[in-house]
Amino acid sequence: MIEQFKKDVDTGLSNCPKSLPSKYFYNKKGDALFEQIMELPEYYVTRAEHEIFQQKKQEILKSLGLQPEVPFELIELGAGNGLKTKELLKELLLQDCQFDFIPIDISQNALDKLEKEINQHLPSVSIKKKQGDYFNVLASLQATKRPKIVLFLGSNIGNMPDAVANTFINTLVQNLTTIDRLILGVDLIKPKTIVLPAYDDEQGVTKAFNLNLLTRINSELGGHFDLHNFSHLAEYTEEDGIAKSFLVSTTEQLVAIDALEKSFFFQKGEKIATEISRKYNDAIMCEILNGSGLKIQCKFSDSQNYFADYILQKNE
Ligand code: AVJ
Repeated sequence: MIEQFKKDVDTGLSNCPKSLPSKYFYNKKGDALFEQIMELPEYYVTRAEHEIFQQKKQEILKSLGLQPEVPFELIELGAGNGLKTKELLKELLLQDCQFDFIPIDISQNALDKLEKEINQHLPSVSIKKKQGDYFNVLASLQATKRPKIVLFLGSNIGNMPDAVANTFINTLVQNLTTIDRLILGVDLIKPKTIVLPAYDDEQGVTKAFNLNLLTRINSELGGHFDLHNFSHLAEYTEEDGIAKSFLVSTTEQLVAIDALEKSFFFQKGEKIATEISRKYNDAIMCEILNGSGLKIQCKFSDSQNYFADYILQKNE
């Protein structure tokens, strides 16, 4: 893990333009900051999807075509705090379904918290957590013959450039059969006045979340980033449909990272790209599914049409 982190930081900061992978946001502090983001008035994303799960969980379940006698696996990629999934879990228990809940997350901290929470509030759910990078855990999905419901919610897929998302979906589908389902939750393209504040909130929580990447490099790799010398920048246009986050060097500076035995030069105003958050519509969704053999079975949206959960099925 630390070796990969070193390598990724070295590569990213040597690149022109500079970048850092967004997956490194999620350490203990980053998890806590993301929980705070989900509560922000500006961050509509989680609330919109939560509304879908609260109000349409019965319809969603019906669309999955589950047979009550057949035990299945409910696999969640990037489970986080499981807010929306808990709605589904409650309904599955009400309907006496037999399943294992398999949350997968990059953050061991988030998984441990989720497990504790499930054991406390939904003790009859059998939970089997797995820590890892999405790409690395895909292979382990194949192992069982039981039907699978795969959840990829929260617009987590939006962190991937379209070509990567396409490859990811293709790889995922290779581990699925025609009885399985994928529930893919995506944030929809909408005006800048709504999207931009979600990534540049009044209280500066998103800024702290972004800067935590540098704090993490400082503490885990002996970095010498002075956080006062970096600011947070978010960009979005509706034409582009991609929210982009950056850290911007506010001064000309040289920053040493001990573990890399290297220093990195930053020009005043130079940006480090830290995250993309892609927004979708049906056309972009179709491009991402292209070649995967997945078809859209149905789509659930919230009352404001901010967010959509697509139910996807592999072609016969
Ligand atoms: C967890 C990837 C869906 O992109 O909206 C929130 C992360 N970054 N605010 C998103 C995030 C800044 C979030 N995802």
